[in-house]
Amino acid sequence: MTGRGRFVTFEGIDGAGKSSHIEWFADLLRKQGHRVSVTREPGGTELAEAIREWLLSRPMSMRTEALLAFAARQDHLERVIRPALDSGVWVICDRFTDSTIAYQGGGRGIALADIETLERWVHPDLQPDRTYLFDLDPSIAAERRRSARAADRFEAEQQAFFVRVREAYLARAASSGARFRTIDSEKSIEDIRKILEVDVLNY
Ligand code: TMP
Repeated sequence: MTGRGRFVTFEGIDGAGKSSHIEWFADLLRKQGHRVSVTREPGGTELAEAIREWLLSRPMSMRTEALLAFAARQDHLERVIRPALDSGVWVICDRFTDSTIAYQGGGRGIALADIETLERWVHPDLQPDRTYLFDLDPSIAAERRRSARAADRFEAEQQAFFVRVREAYLARAASSGARFRTIDSEKSIEDIRKILEVDVLNY
C-alpha cells in the first residue's frame, strides 16, 4: 500500500472534449504503476446512475437538479470514491462538484452560497487533488456537439446557458487555488496529452 490515492477530476462544458482523454490518462497512470479507477458523475453506482437518467431526461426545477446531483454524489462518495482513495487507488472522475457550481450555479442561477452549503455537507473534508478544466468557446463546443449523439436535457440548452456555465467554471478555477489546470481545448489532442503527461509528474 502506498498511502491514499489521488483524486483527479475532468471538467468542462458539453462538447469541450474532456471525455476523449480520460481513458488515455488512466492508462498513462497505470503504466506508471498506479492502481486506477475511472468513474463519472452523475453516476458511478447503481443508484447514482438511476439518478443520472432522471437528471438528463426529466423536466425538473433547478433546486431539484442540484439536490439530485448531490444525492447521487453522496452515494458515489460512500460506495466508490472514498473506499478507493483510502485503499490507495487513484480515482479519475468525469465531473464532480465543480459541475454543479457551473451548471446549476452559473447555468441555472442557483446562489453559489447554497451550492457551497451542500458541498460542505456532503464532502467537507474532500476536494480533488487535481482538476483539469477543458475550456472551449461555447460556439465551437456547440459545433462539436452537433456531430455527436442526440442531445440530452443539458446539451439541448441554448448557447447563452453554456456561456454562463463556462464563466462559472473559470471563476471557480480562479478562486480555488492550485488544484485547477485550465486546458485550452482548441489545442490538438497530442498537445493536450503532452500537457497532461508533464503535469501528472507534479502530484
Ligand atoms: P456528461 O455527459 O459529461 O457525463 O455530463 C452529464 C451532464 O450532466 C452534463 O450536461 C453536465 C450535467 N451535470 C450537472 O448539471 N450537474 C452536475 O452536478 C453534474 C455532475 C453534471
